[in-house]
Amino acid sequence: MNARSGNRIAFLLAAALTLTGGVAYVAAAARETRARADTHASLGIPPGYRDWTLISVAREEGDLDDIRAILGNDLAVKACREGTPLFPDGAVIARIAWSCVPSEENNEVLGRRQSFVAGLPKNGVQFMFKDSRKYAATGGWAFTQFDDGRPADASMLEACFSCHALTKERDLVFTRYAH
Ligand code: HEC
Repeated sequence: MNARSGNRIAFLLAAALTLTGGVAYVAAAARETRARADTHASLGIPPGYRDWTLISVAREEGDLDDIRAILGNDLAVKACREGTPLFPDGAVIARIAWSCVPSEENNEVLGRRQSFVAGLPKNGVQFMFKDSRKYAATGGWAFTQFDDGRPADASMLEACFSCHALTKERDLVFTRYAH
């Protein structure tokens, strides 16, 4: 073996190792995401969440075109009302959405087209569970979504934290309490 082919072998070896390292890294990250999604899915849909207190409502136009309600359990609502910068462990926030449809019966009474109401529920009821230690890797919150009662898959949940992390100074919660 001359020096040139020796160099080439060394180069190929280094490239193979880098590649294997990269693949292993990506595989480990995917495993972690799946494991996280499984753990979060096991949190399930909190019983009675539909009766929680209203924090606020929101309207999304564009592709989503829905109206939504943001509800909180007692710990979440207390923190929202007091405007505390950090939510306490145990706080849970729910987000429900419905299609936004014109109400013909209301419009008839009102004499013009101005009424929009909640139509069919949109797929994907979303939850944020606060536990600063358990979910430290995702800013202290577990993000979950259930479509027709079934947990959303890992790839979907990956996007939640990265976007909510943009409101870090408000402990990852966008919605403000509507007084
Ligand atoms: C591209 C950004 C983005 C992504 C991705 C995203 N959200 Fe949100 N989320 C928002 C914004 C903005 C609001 C507030 C306005 C609204 O409700 O439409 C919100 C509101 C919420 C709320 C109500 C509390 C709050 O922060 O206002 C919950 C709960 C929630 N999202 C959960 C999730 C879950 C679970 C996922 C992933 C499946 C997710 N979100 C993905 C931007 C995002």
